[in-house]
Amino acid sequence: MITIKDLHKSFGPKTVLNGVNMHIAAGHSMVIIGGSGTGKSVLLKNILGLITPDSGSIEVNGIDPNTRNRDAFLDMFGMLFQGGALFDSLPIWQNVSFRLLQGKHKLSNSEAHEIAVEKLRRVGLRPEVADQYPGELSGGMQKRVGLARAIAAEPEIIFFDEPTTGLDPIMSGVINELIREIVVEMGATAMTITHDMSSVRAIADEVAMLHEGVVQWTGKVGDMDNSGDPYLDQFINARPDGPIEAIR
Ligand SMILES: Nc1ncnc2c1ncn2[C@@H]1O[C@H](COP(=O)(O)OP(=O)(O)OP(=O)(O)O)[C@@H](O)[C@H]1O
Ligand SMILES: [Mg+2]
Repeated sequence: MITIKDLHKSFGPKTVLNGVNMHIAAGHSMVIIGGSGTGKSVLLKNILGLITPDSGSIEVNGIDPNTRNRDAFLDMFGMLFQGGALFDSLPIWQNVSFRLLQGKHKLSNSEAHEIAVEKLRRVGLRPEVADQYPGELSGGMQKRVGLARAIAAEPEIIFFDEPTTGLDPIMSGVINELIREIVVEMGATAMTITHDMSSVRAIADEVAMLHEGVVQWTGKVGDMDNSGDPYLDQFINARPDGPIEAIR
């Protein structure tokens, strides 16, 4: 579904991606890990076509992100943004059904409300939540709303950027489980960025670790603990000492 070949991206003198190769098969769940500033978000923005690569290629379902038909391209994706990124001034149902209210869908308010209630139920929220505002909800509830929004238009591909940051361990577990279940039941292709190793283990089929501009290690989640890769070992075991230098 997603193929990235020899992707390079620099900002001025700073090289961020220095030959990234990655393949995500349809219906698989890929989790991207790597230290702060290693280019995970830049990679995501390249795939969405929000940033243009310096060289290399990206294909999503056979389409280059810099296609002229950007609307159709972006229709393939659902996205759970870091920090929720809900619209404070809109009620929850309009947040969830935002895309369905415009563009090619243009549903009526009552149809959009109905779908919002159904998606909210899927993520474990009561119908009454549909008529509340983001400011009235806890962080965990806001994440669920973000998840409901990501799946509302039933996209083929879903991106999750730091889905559990700021949540307590139990709520993180709940969100991880929901993500896994939903991805499986929708048959969607998923790409998740996270620092949370419990998310990696709960969500991933495959894992890719970014380090110094390249994919340092990639493989099945079950092979992660016996990879023999000192960089991956240091990262997943949270060791301060190892080949990756922490800037102190
Ligand atoms: N638009 C931009 N202009 C200049 N530099 C940028 C831009 N976007 C990202 N960078 C730089 O690229 C590097 C990678 O940033 P990125 O946001 O991808 O990191 P990350 O891996 O997502 O980190 P984190 O885990 O902290 O979110 C950083 O050094 C950042 O400063
Ligand atoms: Mg980031």
